[in-house]
Amino acid sequence: MKHFRTQMAVLAISLATAAPLLAEDLQIRNCTWCHGSSAQGYSVAPRLAGQRVDYLANQLEAFSTHKRDEFLLSTKYMWNATAHLDPSTARHLAVYFSALRPESAKDGDIKLVAEGKAIFENGVPNENIAACQACHGPDAQGVREIPRLGGLSYNYLKRRLEDWSQGHDTSGTPMPHVARSLSPDQIAALASYMSFVEGASLEK
Ligand code: HEC
Ligand code: HEC
Repeated sequence: MKHFRTQMAVLAISLATAAPLLAEDLQIRNCTWCHGSSAQGYSVAPRLAGQRVDYLANQLEAFSTHKRDEFLLSTKYMWNATAHLDPSTARHLAVYFSALRPESAKDGDIKLVAEGKAIFENGVPNENIAACQACHGPDAQGVREIPRLGGLSYNYLKRRLEDWSQGHDTSGTPMPHVARSLSPDQIAALASYMSFVEGASLEK
């Protein structure tokens, strides 16, 4: 009997610690259903693996408060996904996804990579286009609340830049201003270049 009671006590303790984990596991499974099993991105849902913790947490908050509101219906998926997400779970999810190793999509146009790289590194001073690396880092690795861009999928990158370049401006960040001067060709070149960034730079 004493043995049984000890076992029950151990079980009670393990259940108490396991319960929040289980809830989080379910959340992760909810997320990977759209973002892919190792969160490398799938269809319209972008890669989360390796993204900066602070950036991910900010985006989850922006979705749940409907501050992130692009033209696209796809944004509404995230409004639903974050509707009942408390800040502490959101932070845990951000930490979890950030720690996964990112893979590069490499799905842009290889012929545009050199042009995209030049704009990314130097901007186009006489067209008022800022050098992306000044904020996103020389290897597009991001830092703190500035996202990693290297290896994200071409279509996702292109769409985000197009939305901002067409004047969509709810993020309260530099991006609508940065993208305003970009032509469709420059956006295609930048998105192609970034989709191919890979290798050691993904580890940073
Ligand atoms: C029904 C599909 C779906 C589910 C479920 C879902 N997402 Fe998303 N998620 C998307 C789509 C689509 C986008 C792109 C939204 C856009 O176009 O702005 C996105 C975007 C994001 C972004 C922004 C990434 C970036 O680079 O800016 C984050 C962060 C994110 N999701 C995290 C999560 C987390 C965490 C969960 C689980 C709690 C989750 N998602 C569940 C479809 C989904
Ligand atoms: C002055 C700093 C700054 C410069 C310069 C800058 N960015 Fe950004 N960028 C940011 C910040 C901050 C965010 C995060 C916005 C948010 O939290 O919604 C961001 C977000 C992005 C995103 C969204 C990524 C995602 O996962 O959804 C893309 C794409 C992007 N930037 C591309 C570029 C490109 C291309 C350039 C150069 C033409 C550039 N940025 C220049 C600060 C900058």
